[in-house]
Amino acid sequence: MDDKSSAQSLRQPVGVEYVNDYHNYLYSSSASDTARQDKEYKYSDLLPTYPNILWPPLKLVGDLPEPGLQVDDWRAGQLFKRSEIHSSDMSPSLGTEISNVDLCTLTLTEKNELGAMLAERGLVVFRGQLNFTVDDQVNLVRHFGPLYKHPSAGIPSDDLSHIRVLYQGSEQKAPFGFTSSIKQWHHDSPYEQNPPGIVSMQLLCAPPSGGDTVFSSGYDTYDALSPGLQKFVDTLHAEHRPGSIDALRDDLHIRRPNTSAVHPVICVHPVTGWKTTYVTSTRYSTYGILGLPQMESEMLIEYMGMVARTNVDAQVRLRWDEDTIALWDNRCVFHSATFNFWPHRRHGVLVSAISNKPLSVQDAQKTLSKEPTSRGNDTSRVS
Ligand SMILES: [Fe+2]
Repeated sequence: MDDKSSAQSLRQPVGVEYVNDYHNYLYSSSASDTARQDKEYKYSDLLPTYPNILWPPLKLVGDLPEPGLQVDDWRAGQLFKRSEIHSSDMSPSLGTEISNVDLCTLTLTEKNELGAMLAERGLVVFRGQLNFTVDDQVNLVRHFGPLYKHPSAGIPSDDLSHIRVLYQGSEQKAPFGFTSSIKQWHHDSPYEQNPPGIVSMQLLCAPPSGGDTVFSSGYDTYDALSPGLQKFVDTLHAEHRPGSIDALRDDLHIRRPNTSAVHPVICVHPVTGWKTTYVTSTRYSTYGILGLPQMESEMLIEYMGMVARTNVDAQVRLRWDEDTIALWDNRCVFHSATFNFWPHRRHGVLVSAISNKPLSVQDAQKTLSKEPTSRGNDTSRVS
């Protein structure tokens, strides 16, 4: 072997290839080819497309509605007074399942109660929604604010750009190393000035098993920090950048120019007044903490992200079926998809409402009627 080939082999070790197949897997339109050709598939009009269109940058908006603030106590409200309702908590602090209620029948007051419930429980899962359409989903989420349009994910069409499509089929297997605990934990679109608040999701086609979504409480993540660390991180802000920067390299269409946003590391939910961590990982979209040396910034982000990813006390796992509608409050929960269902099809739709700019502890002290606190230290809470 001459010197040149020896050097080449050092640069490219045999059998080792470094790839970035993350966005190709999530966003590839070829993943839906089989469904697109299947004339029997009843949701072919909701398969993902990636139109080459450009939207103007979003402008910061304020004074968005906060329906949960209209409610004193959702447990004593109209929804929970329905004689037919069945509910059970998925864990003491996160997630409630509701059955025997037709989501299409919620009154305006009951939707406000749902907003308050989402702020407190983080995740609310409605089972047995046999006739709940995507239009119904859009109408429900509209109650919680203007609809969010994702800058790069698959959408059914230009006209339905407020519907985000999740699709994986038999054509694509999750790439080696595509594991949830490493790359997938996140909250949606923190790089927006007005990130999504209430998010809804349903699966149009669910695999027989697998493809669960795992949720982790930001309130519990904050509670898991020591008082001294809480006091320090309460004061910090972080910059968030979209992971879709990588998508440019993969020749994907970015419909809105990449943006970034600075938000508090610890945010206060305007309905509960509880503090939640609002960073996940430097590998996802939390770019860095302002004013800290890079190593301290990375250490803090990764530590808080690690607590959210690994503290099973703070987590619940949602198993999907095609009659389930889940809503979560993106401001106080993180989530992770699982990709263990190949070769089965998983086809879902998400509709989200944008929320007010996340509230810092300092701003919450000036604007909220109650002193911001951690969930664990709130002596007034019921659960
Ligand atoms: Fe997500």
